[in-house]
Amino acid sequence: MSLKRAVITGVGHYLPDYVLTNKELESYVDTDDEWIRSRTGISERRILKEPGKATSYMAEKASLEALEDAGADASDVDCIICATVTPDYLFPATAALVQKRIGANNAFAFDLSAACSGFLYALSTGSTMIESGRAKKVLVVGADMMSSILDFTDRTTCILFGDGGGAVLLEASDEYGIVDYVHNTEGDEACMLYQPAGGSIKPASEETVKNKEHFIRQDGRSVFKKATEGMADVSLEIMERNNLKAEDVAWLVPHQANERIIDATARRMGLSREKVMVNISHYGNTTAATIPLCLYDWKDQLKKGDNLILSAFGGGLTWGAIYLKWGK
Ligand code: UT7
Repeated sequence: MSLKRAVITGVGHYLPDYVLTNKELESYVDTDDEWIRSRTGISERRILKEPGKATSYMAEKASLEALEDAGADASDVDCIICATVTPDYLFPATAALVQKRIGANNAFAFDLSAACSGFLYALSTGSTMIESGRAKKVLVVGADMMSSILDFTDRTTCILFGDGGGAVLLEASDEYGIVDYVHNTEGDEACMLYQPAGGSIKPASEETVKNKEHFIRQDGRSVFKKATEGMADVSLEIMERNNLKAEDVAWLVPHQANERIIDATARRMGLSREKVMVNISHYGNTTAATIPLCLYDWKDQLKKGDNLILSAFGGGLTWGAIYLKWGK
C-alpha cells in the first residue's frame, strides 16, 4: 500500500465587516497611523462587533465555505480540528460547536491551542490522520476573535491584532499535499506572550478583572527577536532537508504578525517579495487565522504542483514550518 499524502481540497474564510483603521485607534491610545504602518505594516484590521457572535461563528462560516469549495458534504467529515486561543468557552471546544452547526454529524471535534502556530500544528495533526488512513476528510480551522482579549488602552498590543477565521479541507492524494513539517516549542518562555488570568492558575476574580489580567500581554521586543530568528530557521531547515532551493519555492505563506518579520524570513530564504503572501496591511494579526486567510486570498494564483512553505511563530513559545505541494 502506497503512503497517502494529505492534500488541501477546499479553502474557506470569514472576515467581519467592521474595519478598525489606524486612524480610529488614534482616538483610543497615544499612537499614530505612521508609527503603526512603519513598525508593523498594518493599516486596518477587522473586528467582530455583532452581539452573540464569536470565534465559533467565524469558524463555522469558514468551514462551510471550505466544504463548498471542495464539493464535499459535511456528513463525510471524519474530524474537525479548530486552532484558537480565543474559544467561545474554555469548554466545550469551539470545534464541537462548529461540528453541530455545520452538520458534521459523523466527525469528532477538538480544539488545539498553539497560538499563532496553531493552524500549522493543526494542519500537521490532521495530515497524519489522513496519511495513516484513519480519516478520509479532516477539516482544519484557524479562527480567533483577538478583540475579545485586547486591552484597547494598551497601545503596545491593541494595534497589532484583528479578528478572522480560515479553514481547509484535507483529503488523501497519491501525489500532492503535505510533504514535511518542523515544529518547535520553548515552554520556558511562556510568559513572553500570554493571557495571565482566566485559566486554572488564576481563575477570574474581582482582582484579576481590576488588574486587566484577562487581556493579552506581550514583551514585544523579545518576541520580535525570537520570531525573526525562529521563522527563518525553520523555513530554511525544511527547505534544506527537502533539497529545495529558493527557485524551487513558489510561495512563502508566513504568519502575519509583523511585516518586518515576514521580510526578514523571506530574505534569509532568498525569496523575492513577489513570492511572499502578505495581507497584514488589511487584517493585522489574526493569530490562528493568518495562514488560511493567505491561502484564501491567493488561491486563484496557486497552481497544481506549486511548492509552498508555510511558516509561523507565536505564544508558547511555538513555531514551525510546513512544506506542501499544492494539489487543488
Ligand atoms: O504573532 C505572535 C508573535 N508576535 C509578534 O511576532 C510581535 C512581535 N513584536 C513586534 O512586532 C514589535 O516588537 C512591536 C510592533 C510590538 C513593537 O515594535 P518595536 O519596533 O519592537 O517597538 P518597541 O517595542 O521597541 O518600542 C519602541 C517605542 C517605545 O517608546 P520608547 O520607549 O522608545 O520611548 C514604545 O513605547 O515605540 C513606543 N510604542 C509606540 N508608539 C506609538 C509602542 N507601541 C506604540 C504605538 N504607537 N502603538
